[in-house]
Amino acid sequence: MKINKLNKQTCFFNDDTFSASLFEHDYLQANNLITGSSVGRGTTWFFQHQQKKYVLRHYYRGGLIGRINPDNFLYCGLKNTRAYKEFSLLEKMSQLGLPIPLPYAGRITKKALFYQADLIIELIEGAEDLVAVLSRQVISELQWLEIGRVIRLFHDNNIYHSDMNSHNIMLDNSDKVWLIDFDKCEQRKNGGWKHQTLERLLRSFRKEKNINNTLNWQETDWMTLMQGYQSQS
Ligand SMILES: Nc1ncnc2c1ncn2[C@@H]1O[C@H](COP(=O)(O)OP(=O)(O)O)[C@@H](O)[C@H]1O
Ligand SMILES: [Mg+2]
Repeated sequence: MKINKLNKQTCFFNDDTFSASLFEHDYLQANNLITGSSVGRGTTWFFQHQQKKYVLRHYYRGGLIGRINPDNFLYCGLKNTRAYKEFSLLEKMSQLGLPIPLPYAGRITKKALFYQADLIIELIEGAEDLVAVLSRQVISELQWLEIGRVIRLFHDNNIYHSDMNSHNIMLDNSDKVWLIDFDKCEQRKNGGWKHQTLERLLRSFRKEKNINNTLNWQETDWMTLMQGYQSQS
């Protein structure tokens, strides 16, 4: 990994096509590089750079503290920053052959005792999150089995996903299943977290179904997913 320090900013990356200006929304905008956005807690920007597509995300806090202090984190060394940890985990998962977007670059901006963080990852071409897909169409039994199998693959590698919900599962146009959004995730010892992760995901499907009754999800799809999770392959 290469580390580039300039004033209060530290960037880390592997790829020589990287330049620090890619973290500047104004630069991306002025150069017509932005191809889209997605609004959640903050805005996720999609942009292109040298024939490739990327996703730029800023780190935000959740909960009550987040209302007062939306994006400052206590600095305890580069390796302990949210962006560095997510970057490293994505690298590790890519070495394990797990279906995740590749990390491209991270940036830490220091402000006294605090820092702000951003991450650029590769865009998964032609992918949509599962809720978007299900609000339009049903997916086959084979796809539900495959989603279960992919989650199991992460668990067999002891990868804990701290926010395993239906928006963080993506399907691309060749029906490949991807997991995204690895902030605060980690490789950890075997334990009850695997079961809790599945429960959290089930709650997420039920919640989405409550929000949108026409969502193409039903309890039997969950059973198919679990069948995929339990199958030995
Ligand atoms: N690598 C990626 N490729 C394609 N789309 C992505 C990628 N990463 C994120 N997205 C899209 O952006 C949305 C928000 O990204 P996410 O990382 O889940 O952040 P958050 O949930 O904190 O807003 C996702 O639901 C997905 O639609
Ligand atoms: Mg998400």
